[in-house]
Amino acid sequence: MKSPSNAAAGAAEIDAETDATFPNAIEALRTRRSGHNFDPETDIDDATLEALVEDATLAPSSYNLQPWEFVAVQDEDRLDELVDLAYGQEHIRAAGTAVLVVGHDEPKTADRVFDEWVEAGRMDAETAEATKEQTLAMYDDERMGRDYAVRNASLAAQNFLLSAHARGLAATPMIGFDSEGVAEFLELPEEGVPVVLIAVGPSGGDEPERLPRRDVEEVLHRETF
Ligand SMILES: Cc1cc2nc3c(=O)[nH]c(=O)nc-3n(C[C@H](O)[C@H](O)[C@H](O)COP(=O)(O)O)c2cc1C
Repeated sequence: MKSPSNAAAGAAEIDAETDATFPNAIEALRTRRSGHNFDPETDIDDATLEALVEDATLAPSSYNLQPWEFVAVQDEDRLDELVDLAYGQEHIRAAGTAVLVVGHDEPKTADRVFDEWVEAGRMDAETAEATKEQTLAMYDDERMGRDYAVRNASLAAQNFLLSAHARGLAATPMIGFDSEGVAEFLELPEEGVPVVLIAVGPSGGDEPERLPRRDVEEVLHRETF
């Protein structure tokens, strides 16, 4: 089956059935949209929210440190406050659920995760200890710490978006919000970096045509930039 979205995406033609091991995954990533058309009458249930977060946690992360948390807001009055903090983005209210993906700016899971590497026989104790110390030192730097938070949590956010799409939901990632205000409103701990806010909910129907994507020839560089 040729993906109908190939042309719109400006992507190379891939025959999903013969060229791909997981054709549905290719189809999902090619048809995902940032949905702004939510059904304001229905919201996702708890099981769906938990499934989305579980899929998000399957994202890759540096040394499997999983430096992310998810704060879900579904209370109507609190959604109204979030709309204000997101400069009036009304689709947050219509979605019914907003999830802030929060990154850690320091490897606070390091003790546990490096123990897991050793327990699984994937690293010896000495290497694990040295790698842990190196990782802690590297992210002690403020800029590196923020990069660590944003890089890892962004991958989790993309998993969340693809999972929502695969489940027939609409979802939009957002950085148009007052970061400090949202951090305070959601009572984030000091090491928590608000990375991306996701509005998610049952779709209210079609989205407008996708805007053009830059061509592969324009964005792909070989050997050097
Ligand atoms: C980092 C980032 C920030 C974004 N911020 C917002 C936002 O604040 N509000 C919004 O409605 N959409 C936001 N979007 C969605 C983009 O507008 C959307 O991804 C882009 O127009 C491409 O459309 P598509 O995702 O449907 O392919 C954001 C997307 C990304 C990746």
